[in-house]
Amino acid sequence: MTPALIVHGGAGAATPPALQAERRSGLTAAFEVGWNILVQGGTALDAVVQATVTLEDHPLFNAGLGSCLTEDGTVEVDVSLMDGTTFQTGAVGAVRNIKNAIQLARAVMTDGRHVFLVGEGAERFAREHGLPHAAEDELITERQYQRWQAQQTTGEPGTVGAVALDSAGGLAAATSTGGVMGKRSGRVGDSAVIGAGTYADSTIGACSVTGDGEHIIRATLARTAVELMRGGKDTAQAARTALAHLTRQTQGEAGLILLDPFGRSGVVYNAESMGAAFRSEGRFVVRI
Ligand code: GLY
Repeated sequence: MTPALIVHGGAGAATPPALQAERRSGLTAAFEVGWNILVQGGTALDAVVQATVTLEDHPLFNAGLGSCLTEDGTVEVDVSLMDGTTFQTGAVGAVRNIKNAIQLARAVMTDGRHVFLVGEGAERFAREHGLPHAAEDELITERQYQRWQAQQTTGEPGTVGAVALDSAGGLAAATSTGGVMGKRSGRVGDSAVIGAGTYADSTIGACSVTGDGEHIIRATLARTAVELMRGGKDTAQAARTALAHLTRQTQGEAGLILLDPFGRSGVVYNAESMGAAFRSEGRFVVRI
């Protein structure tokens, strides 16, 4: 089976021209990391995790390094991850001081006792599993600090995510974010919630979502989009219908990436822009 991969860098306001080239190269690098895993016979799960690590480490995306700040000036990251073959999931919410929260979500998944850890308990779990720690200020970029000082609550996108299909037919999805600018400490958004921000079922499809977290949770958007593909229904149409469902129900702003077991893809958004990188008809496409 031919593998497939889509990575995204969030939906929202248009990226300022000065940041466009760097964001484009960040998405390209994340795609290449995931794609190399897939073409070497690696799993969809490894591909989405490593693509997400690459974007968490990039300072111009709102996840890991470069996350937006809470109203208290701290970084709290939300992540979820799902393997569509085993239905194993791992998620963490409002975690601080973790270099790559996607690795923490993966450790939660692998441990298997629970599927969703938050805050202090999740951070303790990270220490027990030897995951790299980051001091609070190591994740805060000058750009996000300036935005926080200016009390900006809107802006260009930055949540990151990936969906992949591996050569064995496995699908997986991952999403990671610093959330929304100026959020209350302890707020957890859709990116940590399986069924809302992330969902995968290898017999139907995989989805990662970006946008207004509260609205996306209300619409259980990722699961809705995947269910709309049941029976081999058209992927692009399912993505559009899911987004229309969100808009009708909540007027929220969102974007989503979808893949089905045949590698057919859907990338839709109702925001001004959405960054994504994927292959289409054998050609690499990156847009912001
Ligand atoms: N979708 C990202 C968030 O609302 O936290």
